[in-house]
Amino acid sequence: MKIAVIGKGGREDAIVHKISLSRMVEKVFAIPGNPGTSRYATNIPLKVDDFVALNKFVQQEDVDIVVPGPELPISRGIKDCLERESKTFVFAPPVESAFLEASKIQAKEFMKRNCIPTADFMTFDGFDSAVSYVKERKTYPLVIKADGLAEGKGVSIAQTPAEAVSILYEYMVELKFGESSKRVLIEDFLSGIEYSVFVVTDGEEAIWIGDASDYKRAYDGDKGPNTGGMGSISPVPFLTPDMRSITLDTVIKPTIEGLKRERIPYLGFVYFGLIWTSKGPKVLEYNIRLGDPEAQVILPRLKSDLVEIIIAAREHNLSTIKVEFDERVAVCVVLASGGYPVSYEKGKLIRGLENVSSDVIVYHAGTIERDGQLVTDGGRVLNVVLLGKDFPSVTERIYREIEKIHFDNLFYRSDIGSLDRFKG
Ligand code: GLY
Repeated sequence: MKIAVIGKGGREDAIVHKISLSRMVEKVFAIPGNPGTSRYATNIPLKVDDFVALNKFVQQEDVDIVVPGPELPISRGIKDCLERESKTFVFAPPVESAFLEASKIQAKEFMKRNCIPTADFMTFDGFDSAVSYVKERKTYPLVIKADGLAEGKGVSIAQTPAEAVSILYEYMVELKFGESSKRVLIEDFLSGIEYSVFVVTDGEEAIWIGDASDYKRAYDGDKGPNTGGMGSISPVPFLTPDMRSITLDTVIKPTIEGLKRERIPYLGFVYFGLIWTSKGPKVLEYNIRLGDPEAQVILPRLKSDLVEIIIAAREHNLSTIKVEFDERVAVCVVLASGGYPVSYEKGKLIRGLENVSSDVIVYHAGTIERDGQLVTDGGRVLNVVLLGKDFPSVTERIYREIEKIHFDNLFYRSDIGSLDRFKG
């Protein structure tokens, strides 16, 4: 079987790696991939949303399955386009279901219609009406979200009306996130502990393939600007079997039921961004893909064959799959370029990877090969992943391994895997 993974980040390196371990796979392509994926796949330099070129490639190579990593090709209709033109199966939802991630407003309206627990909210098209609302509102903090895609950065918390007005100005007048922030969602701030759950669904059944916590802020102690994610851990430390089954019964099953009831076709990964509050789990957001860097910890813990799961989803056979996990915990620390997420330099020589112990996985996120040397090519550069008995021992070892890796202005959070944030 031939499989092509679309994307070039750390998440895609983890997906390509996992797929390459499947006994069902004869050839893996990474499009465009990165120096990490070239260790176990053939990289093909095409753009992730150039559907004409992708279509030609999958037909020419007789690719059986395409697995898109990022939301962009999914929300632009990669499934609709490739499946219409070729016999290739695309493991992703069709464009009409992409609203779950691509429009925060439509996703909230879907949750409301289907009684899925989430924060109360209001939506606004115009700056003036949004300003009147935040000025009159009695309870703070509140959360302001750009309606459209904003690379995970379109969420702000306002502590006061003045702060809310200034965020609204940035979003709706200055268009900080372009068209994506022309409309906004204003919702109640929820207190609790955040966690993420990942499932595979065929629109009928859903199977839990992992849970994780990510570290979105740039600096230790959850300080600094929001990033795409500076690290992740799996499983979620505070989540008991009871909390898992409550999450399944009150959030995951009603979401799949809601999709079915509303005849919204869905097949692929669903990433539930959740918060455990004093009233149980509530949905913060849906994403139509795996998380980055959450995939880097959930896939190494998944003992089951991902390709078998993908095929079971295609055949509507997910109930036959018994998902097996590695009992060990996993930690991922993102090595980033100094200045990320604001501005940073590229092209810094990466040294020391050959000194890292063989049980440490180093996924590539923003790297490139230039004149035979590996150099930095993005904000998030490498993802160092280690599995072990418990979080304290893995954390202690992973930071010793990271000291072996060098590039100019390298920075990372030194508290990934610390359990302080789960102490309430
Ligand atoms: N780590 C957050 C995301 O993938 O959206």
